[in-house]
Amino acid sequence: MRKICWVVLFLLASKTGLQAQWLWDAKKMHAIKSRLTSLTYASAYSALMAQADRDLSRNTYSVVQKKGVAPSGDKHDYVSLSRYWWPNPNTADGLPYVYKDGQSNPELERYDRNTLGDMCAAVKNLSLAFFYSGEEKYAQKAVKLLRAWFLDKATLMNPNLEYSQFIPGKDNSKGRPEGLIDSYSFVELLNSIQLLKTSKSYTTNDEEGLKRWFGRFAKWLQESQQGKKEKAAKNNHATAYDSQLIYYLLFSGNEPAARDIINDFASKRIFAQIEPDGKQPNELWRTLAYHYSQYNLSHMLDVCAVASKLGVNLLDKKSADGRSIYTAMDYLVSFLGKEVGSWPYKQISGWEAKQQDICKDLVRILDMNPSLQVYQALFQKYARQDIADQWRLLYGADDLVSRFFTFASAQFDYAMNRVEAVYNESANKKAVLPRSVDKEGKLALVAPRDWCSGFFPGSLWMMYGYTGADKWRTAADRYTRLVEPEKNDRSSHDVGFKINCSYGNGYHLTKNAGYKSVIVQAAATLSKRFNPGVGAIRSWDFNREVWQYPVIIDNMMNLELLFEAARLTGNQDYYRIADTHAATTLKNHFRPDYSSYHVVDYDTATSKVRKKNTHQGYADGSAWARGQAWALYGYTMSYRYTRNPSYLKQAQGVAQFILKNRHLPADLIPYWDYNDPAIPKAPRDASAACITASALYELARYSPNDSSFYSQTGDAIVGNLLQYYQAKEKADEGFLLLHSTGHYPHHSEVDVPISYADYYFLEALTRRKGLEAGL
Ligand code: GLY
Repeated sequence: MRKICWVVLFLLASKTGLQAQWLWDAKKMHAIKSRLTSLTYASAYSALMAQADRDLSRNTYSVVQKKGVAPSGDKHDYVSLSRYWWPNPNTADGLPYVYKDGQSNPELERYDRNTLGDMCAAVKNLSLAFFYSGEEKYAQKAVKLLRAWFLDKATLMNPNLEYSQFIPGKDNSKGRPEGLIDSYSFVELLNSIQLLKTSKSYTTNDEEGLKRWFGRFAKWLQESQQGKKEKAAKNNHATAYDSQLIYYLLFSGNEPAARDIINDFASKRIFAQIEPDGKQPNELWRTLAYHYSQYNLSHMLDVCAVASKLGVNLLDKKSADGRSIYTAMDYLVSFLGKEVGSWPYKQISGWEAKQQDICKDLVRILDMNPSLQVYQALFQKYARQDIADQWRLLYGADDLVSRFFTFASAQFDYAMNRVEAVYNESANKKAVLPRSVDKEGKLALVAPRDWCSGFFPGSLWMMYGYTGADKWRTAADRYTRLVEPEKNDRSSHDVGFKINCSYGNGYHLTKNAGYKSVIVQAAATLSKRFNPGVGAIRSWDFNREVWQYPVIIDNMMNLELLFEAARLTGNQDYYRIADTHAATTLKNHFRPDYSSYHVVDYDTATSKVRKKNTHQGYADGSAWARGQAWALYGYTMSYRYTRNPSYLKQAQGVAQFILKNRHLPADLIPYWDYNDPAIPKAPRDASAACITASALYELARYSPNDSSFYSQTGDAIVGNLLQYYQAKEKADEGFLLLHSTGHYPHHSEVDVPISYADYYFLEALTRRKGLEAGL
């Protein structure tokens, strides 16, 4: 009976591709695989596939390709130069080389070290691509690379490291014991190979050949002079030696020998290298002391991970005087979020990146011991979420959308407290809704008449939409009702922004008949500003001495109210007004490159265009960033309601203008105006990025050919906003995102949080979630 169970389990495992994993967790990876289209994983997955496609077209790697000559004369011998050794400036031939700790010599390129690393990285990419996509071609290439490196007679590496990390002019150019760390990438490689086992390209011959190779390599590690010395080292080299040997022995089928090393590991390595206070003294003399402390710890974690798969718990091992992996970790995490100057030793470069490596180690510890709330909290606080990082596909990540909404919950609780406090101490009892922060950094409230009054209620509706919690419905309703008088505001086009973001979202989620009547009334009000001769809605009434009939690109955003009212009432006048406005704007607002003017002024007598200006941009002929975002969003939504292909083409053209703009920074968060000559010293406008991301997710639905491009770009924008623009919890006056710019020429709201950035960001996340769910 027992036997049958095992057979069944084995069959099930091979069918699902579930293989023994030492370093990575197969169950976790299968869970990731089922969520590859989510915001949490999509960017990492597409980056992986792009990399794997590049790896497909690369040649195989081999030690016989090196430019330098092996001291043995055998090109199959692996050779590498000692990383931190440089030509001697005091001798004519540069010999013997001299030491510069922490500074890598570029001559490394002439030998095999980087080729070995590149081969292992390529096999890893290809194996992961095979696992996640199921496409055989990736496995086939991975196997080809493995054969070239390890198995094919003409190109194989001899299973030893006799010439690893040699120092020209020293010790007869023999390799050093420290050179044994060069093959550490094989540890991950052997884990990658586990992923190939379901592939038909990976044959029994390959498996047997590789097993033999690693068996011989392990023997060399155990018996060579270098191996014996490395084993006797007192620092990270000894840890790495044990770790490698464990993996190679296991892979080659010698589990008892691997277990022997694991059983000695706590006393011989953990307790020997970590002090009771968590310091690792043998790493602290280095110029990269923080790096080497983390590096050593990460190798200990590699051993803990494989040990735990064999049922041995090394993580919780503690010496009588308190030495353990945890104490070492606690010491390193005590510097998270601090400046490099707080580290009492040297760390000449890479401080930030090391902090992130430590955050990743926290996850690896949590995988083995999920009860460590403190580590969980530290990770949440200090880990940057690089959504394209391949690491996510190995170790998993929290759901980004849910994580952000959790943050937004706490933040909006705080925001509502701030609104109340600022309202109570202010003389202006009409200002009731949050818009941004003033020059003193204090919450700026506005009256319902302000064009921004609908965004905060709209954001609260997003909270309700995501959580379904009554609390948010009540809060959203309370703030929404403050805006109701605006349904009769005939003084500007902004009634669309105000009522659609508040009541429009409220109605969409609740079908409350009272909300519907406000929407319809607001549409009637807005349509009064439509001039059939001009074929557009008048935006503003101010500056009458400058403009006769100003229409601004922002006005495209008010059409949704009209389209919705037409849908709700069947009154096609609203539809025709919106459609005509969109058509007129398409004709007059755009330049041939799809960039948009801000203000187009029409002659009320002839209906002809009088002039094309800017009000909030850098110059009349410039591309004001938020204006371009309004245009993209506006035409995408006009297409949603009309299915007019010229609107779709327009939206796609504007997307092209924005995304291919040479002044769009690498993080895709635009400067406030694409033509400000002060770029790159000009302020950013995160709000334009939020509007763009939300529009791109919508546009992805209508653009079968470019759908992934639009949604991937939306993800990249959202990912960068999450990583670099998020406000601090219970600070920043309760806003979600920093670095928006309202009205730069008026020196108003420059580089501050603004309510509409938050609103469109939450909408973007909501739309993204909808795309993932296929809604
Ligand atoms: N609609 C005004 C602005 O975008 O600033």
